[in-house]
Amino acid sequence: MKIVPLGPGFAAELRGVTLAEIAADDAAYAAARAAFEEHSVLVLRDQDVTDEAQLAFSRRFGALEVTKVGSLGTGTHFVILSTIGEDGKVVAADHRLALRNKANQLWHTDSSFKRVPALASVLSARIVPTRGGETEYVSTRLAFERLDPALRMRIENSFAWHDYAHSRGQIAPDLATPEERAALPPQCWRLAWKNPINGRSAIYLASHAFAIDGSEQAAGKKLIDELMNAATAPGTSYLHGWRSGDVVMWDNRATMHRGRPWPAHEPRLMVRTTISAAAADGLETMRPPSPKAAEYRDRSRESANG
Ligand SMILES: [Fe+2]
Repeated sequence: MKIVPLGPGFAAELRGVTLAEIAADDAAYAAARAAFEEHSVLVLRDQDVTDEAQLAFSRRFGALEVTKVGSLGTGTHFVILSTIGEDGKVVAADHRLALRNKANQLWHTDSSFKRVPALASVLSARIVPTRGGETEYVSTRLAFERLDPALRMRIENSFAWHDYAHSRGQIAPDLATPEERAALPPQCWRLAWKNPINGRSAIYLASHAFAIDGSEQAAGKKLIDELMNAATAPGTSYLHGWRSGDVVMWDNRATMHRGRPWPAHEPRLMVRTTISAAAADGLETMRPPSPKAAEYRDRSRESANG
């Protein structure tokens, strides 16, 4: 296996290895896992991608998420990202699938709005448009390390609230359905996620974040905006242009990503599997310690539900 760096200080291509080898071979998995912890984004090209191969590869890294209500693939381990309607044609720009795709174009990390956030996502390209449709990544670990020490210390001891309805609301007010709101109450996570393998912290933030625990709304929003801008500074991203047979895996603890637009009439079909974070990935260090947070959480849940 050869590791070829791709991005500005993060992201690497794994060459000379297949999904099936990493799934089946302990040494190949150990090397891939070490590369994942180090480089945050891993690219494998020219893979023989099937649902089964993607599933077996993903399972190696941990327990898989079951797809939430309201997404294509609900109840399975697959999230189907598609703008192809039931009639086989590309949907109109105001269709829910197209709007969801627009929400994907906001900088985010996957599943920070879930009760168990994600360690990693694995995305495979099944149908790619002729141009555009890239996925753009930034390292929130490198962004953390660029912050001044006082701000680093502040965010290591701050907690942000994440809500799926908040990011969807930036695209259309009713894009998150009542079922999704009920299933996905706001979650509170530490603003910095420390990798337990290498001890390096990363800003943990996403378009889902709407408040800082214990801060006035305006002050919280200011901090969120400031950190989002710092994390997505120009010249710091890796842009992945998709080819059929590509598989990209990323560390949701240490990166953010966004989809890029493509010609609206062209179909695009991507399949994602998502690995839940576990205690060994640092999950327990992310939860807020204060009972106050739990109280706020209950209030948010009530208002989200009603
Ligand atoms: Fe995503």
